[in-house]
Amino acid sequence: MEKKTFYLTTPIYYPSGKFHIGTAFATTLTDCIRRYKELRGFDTYMLTGLDEHGQKIQNVAEKKGISPQEHVDEMAGKAKDLWKLMDIGYSDFIRTTETRHIKAVQKIVEIFLKNGDIYKGKYEGWYCMPCENYFTDTQIVDGKCPDCGREVKKMQEESYFFNMKKYQDWLVKFYEENPHFIEPESRKNEIFNNFINPGLEDLCISRATFDWGIQMPNDPKHVLYVWLDALTNYITALGYLSDDDSLLKKYWPADLHIVGKEIIRFHGIYWPIFLHALGLELPKQIYAHSWIVMKDGKMSKSVGNVIYPETLIERYGLDATKYYLLRLMPFAQDAMFTPEGFIERFNSDLCNDLGNLLNRTIGMMNKYFDGIVQALSSTKTDFDDELESFVYEKIKSFEECMDTYHVSNAISEIWNIISRTNKYIDETAPWILAKEDNKEKLSSVMYHLVQNLRIIAILIKPFMQETSNKMLNQLGIRDEEFMTWESLENYKQLPNNVKVIEKGEPLFLRLDKDEEIEYIRNEMKK
Ligand code: MSP
Repeated sequence: MEKKTFYLTTPIYYPSGKFHIGTAFATTLTDCIRRYKELRGFDTYMLTGLDEHGQKIQNVAEKKGISPQEHVDEMAGKAKDLWKLMDIGYSDFIRTTETRHIKAVQKIVEIFLKNGDIYKGKYEGWYCMPCENYFTDTQIVDGKCPDCGREVKKMQEESYFFNMKKYQDWLVKFYEENPHFIEPESRKNEIFNNFINPGLEDLCISRATFDWGIQMPNDPKHVLYVWLDALTNYITALGYLSDDDSLLKKYWPADLHIVGKEIIRFHGIYWPIFLHALGLELPKQIYAHSWIVMKDGKMSKSVGNVIYPETLIERYGLDATKYYLLRLMPFAQDAMFTPEGFIERFNSDLCNDLGNLLNRTIGMMNKYFDGIVQALSSTKTDFDDELESFVYEKIKSFEECMDTYHVSNAISEIWNIISRTNKYIDETAPWILAKEDNKEKLSSVMYHLVQNLRIIAILIKPFMQETSNKMLNQLGIRDEEFMTWESLENYKQLPNNVKVIEKGEPLFLRLDKDEEIEYIRNEMKK
């Protein structure tokens, strides 16, 4: 049977500076969902890349004394290095300066021109240079950019416009019919209150004041406004309007666009309208996550509060870093990074809860049964049935959370299994069963511990692949069949040749709290 496809995307990043943990979060989240979908048997396609045009990039390159192309080439190399370090399994990395993208975008503009969606006019408005975006009098907040809060400048220029007004009614109807198109709902409400309900403005889509962009095919002194260029990456990467659009046929419409909350307007208004105007199907869902912020607000080099993923990965490992980022971020609110929080979670969740559970189990297995997992005995302890139903319930709820992209909640469910299993050891007191020579009950306890750890190792796969491998290896589970999602239902069947390793290596080594907090703080100041 052919696998169901799942196409998911990250935003394409501005290569203006080094990526911090906020940028790394979006990619980690997307990759985690991709891996989960793979585990569930989907044929996934994950797109990421760089948004390389626009005045901001031109300015950064000028400051460095190199050409914009040289700058973006250098940054593309760095971005790919980072995703490699983070083991991000993207299927394609699109750069908006690539010919495949430029050609397709120009064809898209030609279609819009032909259909009368684009017209030439004069634009005057409040321009935010860093956001490369114009705002109206009513949109600016206290004379500042409503998106980033920085200075805006009154500017006027001859420009091309996309006729958004024409699609207002269609868009409203679309949202009535697809109320869950944007998650969380609060983000949808924001764009309705701020942009759709007051009535859409036509969108200025070209600039003649700088030249680092895709030229308008009919008027080359104008380059495209960066958002029309950027948004279309999701289809140009699949070969839209190229000689080979087999990927588009296979994967479009996208199942999920993951974006940060500040760019939901572009994805929730302009992108659906562009697609509709092209006669293409709309993506199935957009998830707009919130931000990772610091105690003193947004991460910023000048404040000295930026933390880079490399800092955490090099010192604490990739799995701990991914675990922390994903567990930290709630579904709809901002999350605060603190060095204290990071070290606390490392020591308590990873060392104490997970690491100790594995270690104790391996130790007891060797002590009581020479490491060999016994077949499930018919004599149970008083706690076994309840433990089994608890685990099944938590697997179900993990699944529900992951299917609705509540990743932090999903991870909490795994840790609920871990805590429950640790409690099970205290309840059943295997050392007493051993003293009483109650082999039957003792083997049932050990069987449940190994099973739960196997289940935990499968559930953490989407974000802690290495730890998962280490756990399965220590448990002696070699058979692929017992590493799959489907095998989660096989509580009652473990192969009878399972032998845990003789001496388990700790998964995570406990950190000295004060020393490490100090270390992270110093890194943030660099
Ligand atoms: N180039 C546009 C996206 C175009 S998509 C067609 C852009 N790039 S960006 O580099 O500025 O941001 C990329 C993503 O990183 C955004 O989704 C943004 O929300 C996310 N993050 C940047 N800082 C962040 C945090 N501090 N926390 C979480 N995510 C944040 O926007």
